Amino acid sequence: MTPAHLLETAVKASRSAGLHALANLHRRQETVMVSAHDVKLKLDLECQEIAQGMVRTDFPHHAILAEESADKGQPVDNPHDSPYTWIIDPIDGTVNFSHGMPWWCCSVAVKHEDHTVAGAVFAPAFNELFTAARGGKAHCNNRPITVSQTGTLKEAMILTGLDQKHVTHMPRLSLFRDIADNVQKARLMGAAALDICRVAAGQADGYFEAGIYVWDVAAASLIVEMAGGRTETLSSRPSHQIMHLATNGLLHEEFRDFLTSRLELQA
Ligand code: IPD
Repeated sequence: MTPAHLLETAVKASRSAGLHALANLHRRQETVMVSAHDVKLKLDLECQEIAQGMVRTDFPHHAILAEESADKGQPVDNPHDSPYTWIIDPIDGTVNFSHGMPWWCCSVAVKHEDHTVAGAVFAPAFNELFTAARGGKAHCNNRPITVSQTGTLKEAMILTGLDQKHVTHMPRLSLFRDIADNVQKARLMGAAALDICRVAAGQADGYFEAGIYVWDVAAASLIVEMAGGRTETLSSRPSHQIMHLATNGLLHEEFRDFLTSRLELQA
């Protein structure tokens, strides 16, 4: 099974889920759960069902880790003991979507053992499909994309997010302010997968989040790597929550050192 073959299914699944969400935008406020800073939508569940159905049809024995049914703290259900795991975020940027803000996407990745081998991120409101298969190039709508040439943090556009629960000793707004004070511009856009694809496309120079989930970043991280960038998971928890950064590569070490010094200072 080649990465290119797996990518075909990732593309089908992310496009179908995304087109379903877009066609049902008028239902964006139908909720199944609302909490202080988050929301779970009926469309999250429907889009996940669509993406999962396509994966199951093509690869019935592969394991699936999907945001809306993930048992946080439990290993992925893998009844066939498959080396392949599909990782699905049916709507990344759910809160944006629920307000009618266009910065959201559908993300589908597949891992072989510990390595992501194919990934697709579809942003329906922009009609942009980001793709990559390991060993190949990254593309947006079939055109090759590459990361930026920005060499230092002080010249950089950095995209980040505020974790919903406090996951570091440093208050999340203090960390944001510290990043903002040390880069050209820091932005909170609200959909991690799309943020990382912007790094892949050279439209931003780096991304960081202290408490993000693997389904938010799996596909986009492969895309940024195949576009010439670097990704790194600084820590992970059994709940599938990770501390993750993605950069154009050139400023990776400066950004990582900046982050780890801040986070350690507060430990
Ligand atoms: C969220 C988005 C957001 C990030 C949150 C995530 P979801 O994912 O990626 O950018 O800041 O931490 O939970 O819940 O919309 O799939």
